[in-house]
Amino acid sequence: MGLIIKVENLKAVYLVREGTIKAADGISFDVEENSVTAIVGESASGKSTIIEAMTRTLPLNGRLLEGRVLYRQKDLLALNKEELRKIKWKQIALVPQAAQQSLNPTMRVIDHFKDTVEAHGINWSRQELIQHASEKLKMVRLNPEAVLYAYPLQLSGGMKQRVLIALALLLEPEVLILDEPTSALDVLTQSYIIQLLKELKKSLNITLIFVTHDIAVAAELADKIAVIYAGNIVEYNSVFEIFKNPLHPYTKGLMSSIMAINADMSKIKPIPGDPPSLLTPPSGCRFHPRCEHVMEICKKEKPPLLTLEDGAQVACHLYGQGGR
Ligand SMILES: Nc1ncnc2c1ncn2[C@@H]1O[C@H](COP(=O)(O)OP(=O)(O)O)[C@@H](O)[C@H]1O
Ligand code: SF4
Ligand SMILES: [Mg+2]
Repeated sequence: MGLIIKVENLKAVYLVREGTIKAADGISFDVEENSVTAIVGESASGKSTIIEAMTRTLPLNGRLLEGRVLYRQKDLLALNKEELRKIKWKQIALVPQAAQQSLNPTMRVIDHFKDTVEAHGINWSRQELIQHASEKLKMVRLNPEAVLYAYPLQLSGGMKQRVLIALALLLEPEVLILDEPTSALDVLTQSYIIQLLKELKKSLNITLIFVTHDIAVAAELADKIAVIYAGNIVEYNSVFEIFKNPLHPYTKGLMSSIMAINADMSKIKPIPGDPPSLLTPPSGCRFHPRCEHVMEICKKEKPPLLTLEDGAQVACHLYGQGGR
């Protein structure tokens, strides 16, 4: 397995009346071919910003300040529009957060497939279009006969989400990126979508990158987890290690709060305080106002994401240089 995506020092902000929101503050991570990577963090921690910066879909007030996103050695951020269009959908497909709302209520499902094909300059006959669309709908366990000619309003939330995944798969991408694919759904539908993604991963040999605020969802589906706190990756490791031996104080807090559901209440240590404003984030380590291990250096210097001997990656002054 080689690397398929390498994100290097991605920085993105939003311009607002009050100043700049520093939403992605130097994000770096590698993605292996055919792996499943989960980007996990609480709401407003910058997960969507990372995805939007990577896929160049930031909103109008978003600005990409620096960084590289290498896809098989090609920097997506340096491509011109035409080169980018060739890669999107065909090689890298994205299902954005709340994409269900982007389905046009006046268009049938088949017309959404038609639009996608046309936007990529592909000349399929009507018959070919129906055949390809049906094949993809079957992959997400939808009955093409029932769905192809339906309007979005006639579909449930879970069905719409599956239509969006089928659409994203239409041009057979190598990488599928999903932003909160299960969040707007009820628990049963959520687990159905997770199972479906697991199966797709197996049958298509696809690389998945997905965002979730729910670490349990990440655990079920991912090989590796990137834990995001206030616009930074604070820890990146295999699911197994993150659960067995979390390193960063924030990840530890996160873990003890989920483990606490069935555990001895006296051992619960919720993380005190609230996530910081990204308009005026804390200096140095952005977690320092909430960290019980805070040291002088933490207030001044931002800890880099270090790779430890066993391959774990963590951004915290407790590690490296005489630490672990
Ligand atoms: N278009 C925007 N304009 C201004 N601020 C934004 C915009 N989009 C997101 N933000 C802010 O950027 C930060 C990160 O947001 P986001 O990446 O959407 O987080 P997440 O996906 O983890 O919930 C938050 O503080 C959010 O309020
Ligand atoms: S760098 Fe310092 S403040 Fe930040 S998590 Fe580590 S110990 Fe805590
Ligand atoms: Mg989001």
